[in-house]
Amino acid sequence: IEHRTIYEAIGGYKTMNNIVHAFYTRVNDHPDLKPIFPDDLTETIRRQMLFLTQFFGGPRLYEEERGHPMLRRRHLPFPITPTRRDAWLTCMAAALEEAEIKEPYRTAMMERLTLTANHMMNTPE
Ligand code: HEM
Repeated sequence: IEHRTIYEAIGGYKTMNNIVHAFYTRVNDHPDLKPIFPDDLTETIRRQMLFLTQFFGGPRLYEEERGHPMLRRRHLPFPITPTRRDAWLTCMAAALEEAEIKEPYRTAMMERLTLTANHMMNTPE
């Protein structure tokens, strides 16, 4: 079977929901990340769900609700160092593993996320 988008190929809403929850569980346990995130991650999780759905080719839910992503601008209030970039990507790699994302999707997703994470850095160590 051929799937048109990564979102569909990995299993759509259910799989994305698993990824996002696995990811924020790790963020919340990570000493470098926890301090810059809100204590209550409910809204963060909800927005990331909308964003990643759209980012990987699913319905454009984030734009419908939040407008143009402008992600670098939205991250400027938070000091994102190379260490925090690495931590974010490590949490995401573990979340994709926990959600049992198979190749070639796992590598394709990490490549795209790495480009975006590099773009979010705004503070030297
Ligand atoms: C929001 C940190 C990379 C997507 C946030 C927030 C923080 C943060 C602290 C605010 C949470 C809140 O107030 O609820 C980081 C760090 C990164 C990173 C440390 C390391 C590089 C990324 C990447 C993406 C992303 C790579 C997308 C692929 C988002 C989205 C939001 C968000 C969609 C919500 C924006 C909104 O309010 O609409 N991030 N982020 N972030 N982040 Fe990141």
